[in-house]
Amino acid sequence: MKVLVATDKPFAKIAVDGIRKEIETAGHELTLLEKYSSKAELLEAVKDANAIIIRSDIIDAEVLDAAKVLKIVVRAGAGYDNVDLEAATAHGICVMNTPGQNSNAVAELAFGMMVMAVRNFYNGTSGIELKGRKLGIHAYGNVGRNVARIAKGFGMEVYAFDAFCPKDVIEKDGVIALASADELYSKCDVVSLHIPATAETKNSINFGLVNKMPKGGILVNTARKEVINEAELIELMEERTDLKYVTDIMPAANDDFSTKFSGRYFSTPKKMGAQTAEANINAGIAAAKQIAGFFKDGCEKYRVNKK
Ligand code: 3PG
Repeated sequence: MKVLVATDKPFAKIAVDGIRKEIETAGHELTLLEKYSSKAELLEAVKDANAIIIRSDIIDAEVLDAAKVLKIVVRAGAGYDNVDLEAATAHGICVMNTPGQNSNAVAELAFGMMVMAVRNFYNGTSGIELKGRKLGIHAYGNVGRNVARIAKGFGMEVYAFDAFCPKDVIEKDGVIALASADELYSKCDVVSLHIPATAETKNSINFGLVNKMPKGGILVNTARKEVINEAELIELMEERTDLKYVTDIMPAANDDFSTKFSGRYFSTPKKMGAQTAEANINAGIAAAKQIAGFFKDGCEKYRVNKK
């Protein structure tokens, strides 16, 4: 079978070597399309692929139409909002993710961004410490759990709200489970976002919610830009000059944020959360193994689309 790794943001070389080894040992052939500059290149590359490994690469109906012999797409990572699941199902294509494989990397970056924000973006002025401050984890999945673990090392008071995760699962980690997002934002000095981008969550981080944060509140986004209501966050930050926003996913309105909120806003130029050798190896090799298992035994563990 032909397995294509299509990554606009390439994996570390060591991860690609590991993926190649897995794929070739299983008797398949690997091709690479990295840092492609146009969708046309992707459309051409998928033509003869039986399997594709992607990251945040957009796999829409047009790509799936072009991929005439495609059987499986594995998103090496957690969020699969970049794949048109309905179109994949209509094409008889299996879509999987690799949950948990890059979550420590994302959690560590959330703290990198928090420290940067409380130390005033390293501008030489006196900042504050994370120790003793209240951290709110918005969604308690794989990344949220890692954030909780690290937060304890910093000596933070840790709270979480998750609409789907049972309270006892959160509380067994020594984290205080709150009943609503409103409560989380009202209580916490720092809120770290770990919600997926879904129809329900898009634009849900809005003026009213973030305005509940106490004075000096910091919002950290290593999740998705789509969950933020950017126009409302801009309006709020204009009113509340005490708030800071740090994000690993550049907002559509990045220019506005940068000009208006200098000293209170930072965005990475490209999503860096999962960009470590370890996360690339873990997620990339998991993806390769899932593909090998799919072709060998028809294993569909971690399938995320309907049949
Ligand atoms: C994920 O959903 O796994 C993370 O957002 C990482 O995405 P990336 O593979 O595009 O860095």
